[in-house]
Amino acid sequence: GGRGVGMDEARMDVVIQLGHQSLAHRMAMHVREGNSMVDCKGLGRDASEEGALSRKRGAALVRIRGCTCTPTEFLDAMRASRAINYIIRVYFFPEEGIQGSKIEVMDHLRAMQVPLDKVRIQTSPPELGKEVQDLLEEKWELDPREYRLTLSVVRLGDTYHCSMLPGKCMYRQPHNEPASTKGGPSRAVRKLQEAMELCNIKLTPGFIAIDLGAAPGSWTSYLVQCGAKQVFAIDPAQLNSGVADMPQVVHIPKPAQNSLTELAIMGCSADLLVCDMNEPPKTVARRAMALLPFLSKGGKLIVTMKFPGTGREHPGALEGVKAVLGNQVKDVEWHWLMANTLCERCLVAAKA
Ligand SMILES: C[S@@+](CC[C@H](N)C(=O)[O-])C[C@H]1O[C@@H](n2cnc3c(N)ncnc32)[C@H](O)[C@@H]1O
Repeated sequence: GGRGVGMDEARMDVVIQLGHQSLAHRMAMHVREGNSMVDCKGLGRDASEEGALSRKRGAALVRIRGCTCTPTEFLDAMRASRAINYIIRVYFFPEEGIQGSKIEVMDHLRAMQVPLDKVRIQTSPPELGKEVQDLLEEKWELDPREYRLTLSVVRLGDTYHCSMLPGKCMYRQPHNEPASTKGGPSRAVRKLQEAMELCNIKLTPGFIAIDLGAAPGSWTSYLVQCGAKQVFAIDPAQLNSGVADMPQVVHIPKPAQNSLTELAIMGCSADLLVCDMNEPPKTVARRAMALLPFLSKGGKLIVTMKFPGTGREHPGALEGVKAVLGNQVKDVEWHWLMANTLCERCLVAAKA
C-alpha cells in the first residue's frame, strides 16, 4: 500500500533525452522495473519509450508520468547515479501545464506575458527550437548561456508540451563529450559495474575470479578494486602494464581453450567467472562451459555476448546459447545494459 495521493501534491511528467532510440528503450525498462540506476524518491514507474521504435533513430525520449519529485530532486538523484552517463537532456512538464497541438502551443507562447529574465529554449525535436526562437526573439530576451529561465517545448506523439521553469531545472550535458564517453571509467568497465549493481552481486573481499578475454584489463583491474585476492586474467593479448603489475593478477597469455592446464596446475577454484571475449555467442558459451570446473558451485557468471543482426530481440540466438549452457548453470538472466552496444547482451547466471 503506497501513500495516498492528495489533491495538493503537484505531479509532473519527467522526459529524458537519451543519445539514441535503443538507449531510451533500455532506460524506460530500468524505470519500470525500479532499478537502482534510476532510483529517485517520488519518481513514477509509468515509463514509456517515445519515438519510432527503431534500433537507433528516433526521438530517443523516455516519458515518466505522475512524478511527485521536484526537478532538482530528480537531477540530483541522476547526478549521483550511473544514469547520468547516458542522459543528454531532461524536460519537466507539470501535469496541469500547457499542452495541445503545435498551433495551440505556439499561440499560447505568443500571448504569454513577456518574462522579466533571460530565457534559454530547449526543444525536441531540435529543429523545433528555431521556430520557437523565431516566434519569441523580438520580444523575449533569449540567451543560451546566461539565463534564469528555461522554456521547454517537446513533441510527444501528436501533442506538444510546454513548460517554463527556473534555469536550475535545466540539465546540460558537459560540452564536447558524447554521453557514452563522458569522463569516469571506460565503457568496457561500465558493463561489469552495471551488471553487478543490477543483479545485486555482492563479493566478499578475498574472492577469486577468472576473467576471460581480459585484455587490456579494465575488468580485471575493477575486480582487484572490488577486493579480489586473485584474478586469473586469460587473454593471448597484452594487459596494460598497470594491470599486469598488480600482485593479485595472474596473466595467462593464451586463448581460453588452451588455458585449462595452467588453471589446473595453479589449483584455481574461483568464486566468479567474467567474460568479455569478442567471439560468437555460442563459442563464448562453449569456452566458458569448458572452464566451469574451475568455478565453485553457486559461483556467478557474467558474460558479454555479441549477437549479429539488427533486431532488438534475439529469441532464437538466446535459445541457442541456452542449449549450450544446458543444466550446468542456473538462474539465467539476460540483460541489455545501458553500457552494452546495440548488439551486446549480458548473460548473468550461477553454476548449478
Ligand atoms: C573487448 S576485449 C575485452 C576488454 C576487457 N574486458 C577490458 O575491460 O579491458 C576482448 C578480448 O577478448 C580476447 N579474446 C578473443 N578470443 C579469445 C579467446 N578465445 N580466449 C581468450 N581471449 C580471447 C581478445 O584478445 C580481446 O583482448
